[in-house]
Amino acid sequence: MKVLFVCLGNICRSPAAEGVFLHLLAERGLSKDFVVDSAGTGSWHVGNPADRRMQAAANRRGIQLPSRARQITLDDLSEFDLVLTMDQSNLDAVRSLAAEAGDRATAAIEPMLTYASTFTETDVPDPYYGGDAGFEHVLDLLEDACSTLLDKLSAQE
Ligand code: 4NP
Repeated sequence: MKVLFVCLGNICRSPAAEGVFLHLLAERGLSKDFVVDSAGTGSWHVGNPADRRMQAAANRRGIQLPSRARQITLDDLSEFDLVLTMDQSNLDAVRSLAAEAGDRATAAIEPMLTYASTFTETDVPDPYYGGDAGFEHVLDLLEDACSTLLDKLSAQE
């Protein structure tokens, strides 16, 4: 199963989702069953590590964020089984890429918070211009949604 997390810059929310999901896979002994990556719809931060505030907040929860930013490509939509977007704008951008890719776009495209079970929000808010609480809230949302997502995916396998 190949899962791709997508946000705008690929330095805050989607690398955090990737790190949280990888952490859960390791905890549950499922790492070998999944390929996990993240990407941004924008290209400004390509090659950069995750934002240091996002990394610090994740590290405090014992979660590492190893990824470097990259931009999503048309090929990602055939390479991955599931593409999870952080907010409505990411969803619109990925859907328009899928329209461009036509039949080659075989991935399921879903909002990440479709899988949230404790929180009722529909978008993971962009924490980039806010304070530390924003990064903590992103992790709260992602821990909730990633856990339910993995429950569902591992039940299907
Ligand atoms: P992300 O956050 O989409 O969660 O990685 C952002 C990071 C940087 C910018 C926007 C969003 N930016 O405009 O530079």
